[in-house]
Amino acid sequence: MTQSPLYSRIIGTGSAVPPDCVTNQELAGRLAARGIETSDEWIATRTGIRQRYFAAPEAMTSDLALTASKNALRAADIDLQSIDLIIIATSTPDFVLPSTACALQRKLGLRNHCIAFDLQAACTGFVYALTIADQFIRARACQTALVVGAEIFSRLLDFNDRSTCVLFGDGAGAVVLQASEQAGVISSALHADGRHTDILCAPGRVSGGAICGQAFVTMDGQAVFKLAVHLLEKVALEALDKARMSAAQIDWLIPHQANIRIMQGTCRKLGLPLERMLVTVDQHGNTSSASIPLALDEAVRDGRIARGHTIMIEGVGGGLTWGAAVIRF
Ligand code: UT7
Repeated sequence: MTQSPLYSRIIGTGSAVPPDCVTNQELAGRLAARGIETSDEWIATRTGIRQRYFAAPEAMTSDLALTASKNALRAADIDLQSIDLIIIATSTPDFVLPSTACALQRKLGLRNHCIAFDLQAACTGFVYALTIADQFIRARACQTALVVGAEIFSRLLDFNDRSTCVLFGDGAGAVVLQASEQAGVISSALHADGRHTDILCAPGRVSGGAICGQAFVTMDGQAVFKLAVHLLEKVALEALDKARMSAAQIDWLIPHQANIRIMQGTCRKLGLPLERMLVTVDQHGNTSSASIPLALDEAVRDGRIARGHTIMIEGVGGGLTWGAAVIRF
């Protein structure tokens, strides 16, 4: 007997940001005290960022993931113990080991021995994590997955480097994904090219009880910018092709929120009106793997995204990694 096709569907979304909201002006003031010159005008015009949130020194990535997950679980209205897979996309885990996903499992009070692991694909992490959870569900290896993007990216920032420290912020977003006969994740496309390692990296490592190398993030912004616009268009078209859909059928484009100019460029290349793109980079800055689920949750909660809408998520990040997915909400 043939089994009916199975999909994974998003049944709840949630997000969290830490309490400390830092405006461009405030950040410019803090940097001026270090002799570093920047301005609200430079940051806002070059990136679209107006503010970001920074976590307190004692906060953990799993704490932000926990709040976002609780919100997503409340929206999904399911029994916590039915979660049988946790994936956290993060470049800023609590520890080298164990995984942040195991910390989240403990903090949630999940005692069902479900699968839990972290995934490192930088700013494309959430697209990777969602795709992998979808594959677990389609393979009937799991029923209900908690997929999280969570970062305390401020820990990687060198506040003497104005070309990076004004760009990033902290936050988390989560979705509950469940097996369904109704369409959910329709298609996805994932890629990586390790030849571009050097243009966006934090090449520190722990050795002999100390951090060796450069633990702060460094970026050749222009090189990433050029690749990003090209790769995001290509991967979006690939995901659409796999879904047998055209860009005109997309209700909402949710790009990784790094730079408004990159986002608008991709949107235009796809022939989509800018009104169909979700923008939260102004509020959160670049929160790496958290940016897509943060934007998704905001639009679900304020009612812009409704059941039946077709969404495209897409991202590019260190590695380089890039990917896109088409989702029926
Ligand atoms: O999340 C992963 C994906 N990441 C991205 O997609 C980021 C991609 N790259 C970008 O978003 C942009 O390249 C940046 C926002 C990082 C930089 O914007 P840009 O228009 O490429 O600026 P630039 O690096 O060419 O710098 C222009 C000028 C330079 O001064 P000179 O050499 O022209 O005199 C910089 O020194 O702006 C200067 N500058 C700043 N000035 C004030 C760099 N950072 C700052 C700053 N404040 N914070």
